[in-house]
Amino acid sequence: MNLLIIHGPNLNLLGEREVEIYGKLTLKEINSYIRKYATTKKVKLKIFQSNHEGKIMDLIAAHRKWADWLIINPAAFTYYSYAIRDAIKGVNIKAIEVHLSDIKKRESFRKKSIILPVCLKQIKGLGKNSYTKAIDFCLKHT
Ligand code: DQA
Repeated sequence: MNLLIIHGPNLNLLGEREVEIYGKLTLKEINSYIRKYATTKKVKLKIFQSNHEGKIMDLIAAHRKWADWLIINPAAFTYYSYAIRDAIKGVNIKAIEVHLSDIKKRESFRKKSIILPVCLKQIKGLGKNSYTKAIDFCLKHT
């Protein structure tokens, strides 16, 4: 199974940013946790982070023939990027939306994801385990 993971804007600041919400782990630490987990499951993995909407669309398009699954944390793009939504819809990659925090229990603007309709599932509120749970879902549905 080939898995593309994309972390969206501001997730490069994990470990420093709103630690009371996102925790103290850096993105590098979260990625190595994900990589270790993927290795035990024999999943081939590529991980990227970008603060730029267009870059995220380019990554999705560039991996459209390689990736079986996309796990995406669209971060703030969750609430307004119709362009990322169209990018996911336009390729033949099954997608899962993940969030570290429980976006349903936060400000009202975070309650509605416009990315979710083009994903098979949303996993939220589990910190780094939102990603490993998403990997489990991919494996179960491959
Ligand atoms: C987030 C939740 C989003 O609302 C926020 O904009 C983020 C991170 C999360 O992982 O909990 O940047 O996607």
